[in-house]
Amino acid sequence: MDVARWLDDLADGLSEHGWMSFDMTPWLGSQLLQSLQQEIIVLDQSDALKAAGIGRGSAPVRDRSVRRDKIAWLQGATPAQLALFECLEDLRVGLNQRLFLGLKRVEAHYATYHSGDFYTAHVDSFQGRASRIVSFVLYLNDDWQPGDGGALQIYGRTNNNASDAVILPEMGRVVLFMSEEIRHGVLEAHRTRYSLACWFRQDEIPFLL
Ligand code: OGA
Ligand code: MN
Repeated sequence: MDVARWLDDLADGLSEHGWMSFDMTPWLGSQLLQSLQQEIIVLDQSDALKAAGIGRGSAPVRDRSVRRDKIAWLQGATPAQLALFECLEDLRVGLNQRLFLGLKRVEAHYATYHSGDFYTAHVDSFQGRASRIVSFVLYLNDDWQPGDGGALQIYGRTNNNASDAVILPEMGRVVLFMSEEIRHGVLEAHRTRYSLACWFRQDEIPFLL
């Protein structure tokens, strides 16, 4: 697989449309995808995922009318997470070389939506914060059917009200988009929905805060 060509396509998609969706299986490999899927299933079953908040900082708001997913941050603690972070590092460097985004680091969490869970339309970052610049969501579900709900709705650059694309959260599929610009939301899921969300950020590590 030609990673450089792939990065060219991703960079073109991001600059032309602000978002794009692609199958990342050939890049990550199905074994790594299965390991990541196994990790999130175990985390979910052992109740290790916590209700997600809205906004960052010391007091994230937990509002079940806005989002109902549960999350766990990846610490790079397992071989699968380390292998994923290596690929994300290639993506970070590749996007910087092509789009001059000055991406400095990546943060990632697993997310589970149980039946009935959703996330209303939102953007991942507010303009001018220089925090989350590029969003990356990887899906970890086998045999997802349209009737299972849980589709990602993307509201692209051209249209503010109708959604431009509806993406099923199928194993290995990735959605990449500009965090400040592309509004999106997750429709109500009718079965458990596993994903991994990452953000490429322009700021340094906020350690000791
Ligand atoms: C998010 C998000 C989309 C998805 O976590 O901010 O928008 O499809 N996730 O899981
Ligand atoms: Mn989001």
